[in-house]
Amino acid sequence: MEVITNSANDTIKLGEKISKILKPGDVILLTGDLSGGKTTITKGIGLGLGVTRIINSPTFNIVKEYKGDNIILNHFDLYRLDGLNNDFDLEEYFNDNSICVVEWPYNVNELLPKEYLLINLLAISENERKITITPIGNRYEGRDYSCII
Ligand SMILES: Nc1ncnc2c1ncn2[C@@H]1O[C@H](COP(=O)(O)OP(=O)(O)OP(=O)(O)O)[C@@H](O)[C@H]1O
Ligand SMILES: [Mg+2]
Repeated sequence: MEVITNSANDTIKLGEKISKILKPGDVILLTGDLSGGKTTITKGIGLGLGVTRIINSPTFNIVKEYKGDNIILNHFDLYRLDGLNNDFDLEEYFNDNSICVVEWPYNVNELLPKEYLLINLLAISENERKITITPIGNRYEGRDYSCII
């Protein structure tokens, strides 16, 4: 699925729509350009999950946890994480009480689940983003995505 957004607000709205098809235990991997809108779409996902705190880039924390409606949103930014040479236990966060959104996932390739929802965000112009949503694995392929396109 491919969606073009024309503003940060559009991307937030898309994130909100995506949140409606998510289930506890889901993992969303965000890839693409620097400033592609990964944190922006996460704000929308958070809004849709009932998170009331403002979601900001977790760059200096690696992960931030947010309380939503009966769900925890774990927001990762692994940009600065280089392979496995640290004692950060990523898998601990992947569980059925939470939804995990991961920016720069390929820095920890070995630790990622086999199934996930992949969202790639490319900057086409200052305010345009091409956002491609690809379900990977049975868990995600079987869902109805009609509400987001
Ligand atoms: N259509 C759009 N969708 C999302 N963001 C947009 C759009 N148009 C402009 N922007 C701007 O682009 C920037 C996106 O920043 P954001 O922090 O979400 O990107 P990111 O992918 O998380 O960046 P980083 O690679 O640094 O983590 C914001 O300043 C936002 O206002
Ligand atoms: Mg970011």
